[in-house]
Amino acid sequence: MKKELFCILGLLCLSGAIAAQPVMADRHAARGMGCEACHAANDKTRPVRKDACLKCHGSYEAMAKRTEKVVPNPHFNHYGDRDCTTCHKGHQQSVVSCNACHQFDLKTP
Ligand code: HEC
Ligand code: HEC
Ligand code: HEC
Ligand code: HEC
Repeated sequence: MKKELFCILGLLCLSGAIAAQPVMADRHAARGMGCEACHAANDKTRPVRKDACLKCHGSYEAMAKRTEKVVPNPHFNHYGDRDCTTCHKGHQQSVVSCNACHQFDLKTP
């Protein structure tokens, strides 16, 4: 009984810690970037496409170079140059879109 209570408390603490991880938009805000950095014309109703990210991050080739040691390289593969936000979510936990079909041990920031 006592042990179970600790487990429940432990889980609550753990989920709290995960929820407290700042999401991508907040990490950009912390570097002084406003909403309009990603939301063109500050319009939040339109989807954020990769050209918005590439204004600052250069190109898929540049991203592939940054993660060239990661296997598989999330920025260079047969799945193609998708919108960055298929993996990097703005205001929620990011995902690994590859894992709709694979089981790669990747972690998307
Ligand atoms: C680093 C890029 C980035 C920044 C900066 C950013 N957003 Fe977003 N925003 C996104 C993305 C990507 C989506 C699409 C949904 C998602 O991935 O969470 C989105 C979606 C939204 C939506 C649609 C509803 C939703 O959550 O899906 C709203 C509203 C929004 N953002 C508000 C804001 C506001 C307000 C700011 C500034 C305080 C901001 N965003 C800054 C990337 C960003
Ligand atoms: C106004 C410029 C700007 C825009 C637009 C922008 N970023 Fe960034 N981003 C930065 C800077 C600066 C850093 C910190 C230095 C670095 O890691 O390149 C960064 C860091 C990151 C990081 C790694 C570090 C972290 O804190 O997460 C990811 C992932 C990232 N950006 C993804 C995106 C995605 C996806 C988009 C589009 C939705 C985007 N960025 C739009 C400037 C920008
Ligand atoms: C298929 C999913 C996926 C897509 C699409 C994707 N990324 Fe990533 N990204 C990742 C993963 C996974 C990592 C972490 C790799 C690692 O383990 O270091 C990452 C890391 C990053 C980093 C940090 C690199 C570093 O030096 O640590 C940046 C910046 C970034 N991505 C930007 C982008 C941008 C910009 C785009 C769109 C042009 C994009 N990503 C598209 C999955 C993705
Ligand atoms: C719609 C399903 C689908 C998605 C999404 C997908 N793949 Fe694949 N992938 C396949 C299929 C099918 C094969 C070929 C069969 C095999 O070898 O598993 C394959 C093969 C591969 C291979 C070579 C075989 C292996 O498993 O080592 C790599 C590497 C790979 N994919 C990486 C990725 C990466 C990285 C992503 C995300 C950016 C991704 N895939 C997204 C379906 C998919």
